[in-house]
Amino acid sequence: MLTPAEQFDALQARGAAFLGTEFAIMGGAMSWVSERHLVAAISNAGGFGVIACGAMPPALLEAEIAGTQALTDKPFGVNLITMHPDLEDLVRICVRAKVGHVVLAGGIPPGPALRAVKDGGAKLIAFAPALVLARRFVKFGVDALVIEGSEAGGHIGPVSLSVLAQEILPHIREVPVFVAGGLGRGEAILGYLEMGASGAQLGSRFAASAESIAHPNFKNAFIRANARDAIPSIQLDERFPVIPVRGLVNAGTKRFLQHQAETLAKFQSGELDKTAAQLAIEHFWAGALRRAVIDGDVENGSVMAGQSVGMVTKVQSVPEILQELKAQAIAALDARAAQARAAQARAAGMGRAEGF
Ligand SMILES: Cc1cc2nc3c(=O)[nH]c(=O)nc-3n(C[C@H](O)[C@H](O)[C@H](O)COP(=O)(O)O)c2cc1C
Repeated sequence: MLTPAEQFDALQARGAAFLGTEFAIMGGAMSWVSERHLVAAISNAGGFGVIACGAMPPALLEAEIAGTQALTDKPFGVNLITMHPDLEDLVRICVRAKVGHVVLAGGIPPGPALRAVKDGGAKLIAFAPALVLARRFVKFGVDALVIEGSEAGGHIGPVSLSVLAQEILPHIREVPVFVAGGLGRGEAILGYLEMGASGAQLGSRFAASAESIAHPNFKNAFIRANARDAIPSIQLDERFPVIPVRGLVNAGTKRFLQHQAETLAKFQSGELDKTAAQLAIEHFWAGALRRAVIDGDVENGSVMAGQSVGMVTKVQSVPEILQELKAQAIAALDARAAQARAAQARAAGMGRAEGF
């Protein structure tokens, strides 16, 4: 019979083998946060760090990969946003630098980029927002999928992880599936592993870690916040779409509503045409994540955070976070084994009392 620790290892074995790590836990790529130090710290601690390329130009990404390779000899990945204008160049840089895993995020990955990753020999990870797309990606030859629920920090889809997991996990066995969004404790990760996930991706807990370069104000905002403070951006008018981004409510999020109302008034009065009004709305948040993460302006910047932020209670080191998640999962398995033993003992006792 397997011990709880062995059971946990067996449950995460497929994901860990795919990533080449001890833990089947990916550090979700976070623009401005997931740079060489945090990525290397996650990989060195047995997880899988992922560089967030975000809007970086190719030369910067190349330097970030080299910088990460100088800090760790463990596997790590690179997350590329599909609408980046130099996407194919970025893929070439990853392949040339022998990055083992490329994650394509932020929309349906275009065919040429998918092929460039595969032809270059890197493992390809894509985000599947629905079962039909998961099946299409598998058919294309994607090596693993991430299903990210709307509980997550940053840009989000409309469906929660608990629903996506039920929709997708029972049907996709061909490739490992990693779950993301709102995960802060090992018991929850264990639950999804038992449903068929191969591993998990966490963002917010690592953003507030000791090794994260995020400004102390950013980490303190995470420590203070509850799950209910991390809400999606609000769209005022359906004619002017706002991409939903989950982050902490602050003066900036309140001013964004006001800015939308003022822009709408300008559109209605004819001062702005539709395109100019849409652009004015989109530009509101330009540079805002950097302002919060790097400059520490958590009142006016964009403090992207998942609902898991409520489970960030202090600054912890990355190894401590990973060990804590594992210990929570194992403790849950342990408690279950104890319950089963107690139930068996009760049944045996009843049997004796009834003369069986
Ligand atoms: C500050 C921040 C920035 C993020 N930036 C990105 C990004 O650039 N690309 C991406 O694919 N996901 C991004 N995400 C999502 C994370 O990779 C991860 O999937 C998410 O944080 C998981 O939810 P959790 O925070 O509840 O753990 C970001 C999340 C946060 C909190």
